[in-house]
Amino acid sequence: MIVTRMIEIYAHRGYSGEYPENTMAAFEAACKANTDGIELDVQLSKDGEVVVIHDERIDRTTNGIGYVKDLNYRQLKLYDAGSWFDRRYSRQSIPLLSEVLKMLEQRRSITLNIELKNNLIDYDGLELKVLELLDETGLRNNAILSTFNSKSLIRLRELDSSVNTALLFEGVPSNVITDARNNRVNAVHCEAAFAMSPAGKRTIEAGYPLRVFTVNEKEMLGKLEDAGVSAIMSDFPGLFN
Ligand code: G3P
Ligand code: MG
Repeated sequence: MIVTRMIEIYAHRGYSGEYPENTMAAFEAACKANTDGIELDVQLSKDGEVVVIHDERIDRTTNGIGYVKDLNYRQLKLYDAGSWFDRRYSRQSIPLLSEVLKMLEQRRSITLNIELKNNLIDYDGLELKVLELLDETGLRNNAILSTFNSKSLIRLRELDSSVNTALLFEGVPSNVITDARNNRVNAVHCEAAFAMSPAGKRTIEAGYPLRVFTVNEKEMLGKLEDAGVSAIMSDFPGLFN
């Protein structure tokens, strides 16, 4: 029996529950698991390359130390971005966003949620670089750009009046609809507690789809679907097949 579900499943940092987060191995595994979307995080290297890594520093997920912003891509790519997770993945390195886009060029049904990690370091020009990279592969319409940085959402909207953007926040704030309007976003990325709250319901009614991070329990799926959530982001996208 084929079960059709309304809610979409995005792989959070790729298939990060079983592969090192934000690596090509994690993205390839997500594709194999038939994920509807992939979420990843980007930062900017010293020489202005858009690289896929969650933290501002490389210490936690590679065998190197230091800030991404202080290292050229030539240096960044030499570090092992897999062994911290499992020695089997010692050949994984920090990907360029362009490498992931290249992979997704052949898989156009997959939505790509690029989270601009510019809330702690507001990288100069990151928004424009991401948009240009999307254009090189013709994937601008397949992408959702999200960030915790409200100024960056405004800059994205000024650069492109129609690109899909999403307001990103934690917890259950009360001013989400106002923020969504002020930041001219298309959607809201939130936690389950917000999605299941009266404020979450009002946000959907105001016309903003909700996508929820990070959902790793199978039993949450039905509850979030009942709440009207459009997508969930999971470290284990295969769990929901
Ligand atoms: O984009 C949703 C989610 O990824 C935000 O939190 O820390 O996992 O990037 P984080
Ligand atoms: Mg993220």
